[in-house]
Amino acid sequence: MELKNLRVNGKRLQSTLAEMATIGATPGGGVQRLTLSDADRQARDLFVRWLKELELDVTIDEMGNIFGKRTGRDNDLPPVMSGSHIDSQPKGGRFDGILGVMGALEVLRTLHENNVETLRPIEIVDWTNEEGSRFAPAMVASGVWAGALDRDWVYQRTDIHGKRFGDELQRIGYKGQAPAKKHPVHAYYEYHIEQGPILEREGKRIGAPKGILCLHWYDIYLEGEANQVGPTPMEGRHDALCAAAEMILTVNRLPDKMGGNMVATVGEIQNYPNSRNIIPDKVHFTVDIRSWDDDHALRAWKDLRKDFESIAAGRGCPIRIEETWRVAHSPFDKKLVQRVLDTADALAYPSLYMVSGAGHDASYMNQIAPTAMIFVPSIGGRSHVEVENTRWEDCEAGANVLLHCILQSAGEAAED
Ligand code: GLV
Ligand code: MN
Ligand code: MN
Repeated sequence: MELKNLRVNGKRLQSTLAEMATIGATPGGGVQRLTLSDADRQARDLFVRWLKELELDVTIDEMGNIFGKRTGRDNDLPPVMSGSHIDSQPKGGRFDGILGVMGALEVLRTLHENNVETLRPIEIVDWTNEEGSRFAPAMVASGVWAGALDRDWVYQRTDIHGKRFGDELQRIGYKGQAPAKKHPVHAYYEYHIEQGPILEREGKRIGAPKGILCLHWYDIYLEGEANQVGPTPMEGRHDALCAAAEMILTVNRLPDKMGGNMVATVGEIQNYPNSRNIIPDKVHFTVDIRSWDDDHALRAWKDLRKDFESIAAGRGCPIRIEETWRVAHSPFDKKLVQRVLDTADALAYPSLYMVSGAGHDASYMNQIAPTAMIFVPSIGGRSHVEVENTRWEDCEAGANVLLHCILQSAGEAAED
């Protein structure tokens, strides 16, 4: 068969995704595969088994990243890499992350059964803890691999129960021996659901993001004074939750106030002692700010920080702020983005040049290698929820685009 006529097996991709979705399945039809949980381990075990069936060279590094390498004709040439993540949000969907890993697996299966040889090796990857929901921040393992984050700092990060990342990685048996250290990569493609409404609204099947917004994460800790709610007069209270409430609305109003293109969100809060008849004396909450313009996001943060300090002072609630994580906006490789668009055209899938509002390991990969992403529509624009859904035909279409982008990159000689 002529290579240009090669297609993935959409039914097989569907059943692979369906099998993965049984691991950590939630009653509402989604998945809970928090990073380094037992469900994450189970999904990794299955993934590794599937990699071995393809006779790939499997490596697990000290961050728990799983790589499977398919040899090329010239294995001295840097490989083409593709993958995403297996972990999920607490009430996540059946496509976020896993589509990119299973999509790349489907590409390798297709090459394998058709005995397709490529010039360059091809490497599939599952990055540990993309979500950053259990252990903040997100995308840490690609960050360490790319040399942007420190391994030991990540090992020490704790979840809300005080469990350490490094210990949990060991516990699930995925603290590998290989150093988490970048090697040259010829091209990195990450296949993912859009997680927003635009492709569906525009009636397109393939999205080619020009890049990813910057992501800035902050952790806010407030101290109040606990007391019995009945006898304590309203005047003179130091209610940490009320201070947080004012701050949260300030975050919500920030994009309007600052103008320009940005979003700002508080998604997580812990209130202590969390009893209806005690004035709260400790609150922790998170802030997420995103924009294409890094400076704009920083200006917004400076403005917000001032507001936080004055709210805290007004309520007599000392504030501690941790600037947890920043990753700059990531403009992808123009040639690879164009390749995604051209490949979609060649396969007769309507496509759209767009922006990714969601974070991806592609942000860190973009710092060390030519990178692009392939998006497919999210039904109703819903993601990070159990009802997250994408049509099977679209999953197949995206995997075909991935297949042909990989084939082109993997056929490029050293001087290309
Ligand atoms: C990752 O899922 C993010 O966009 O926060
Ligand atoms: Mn994802
Ligand atoms: Mn996600």
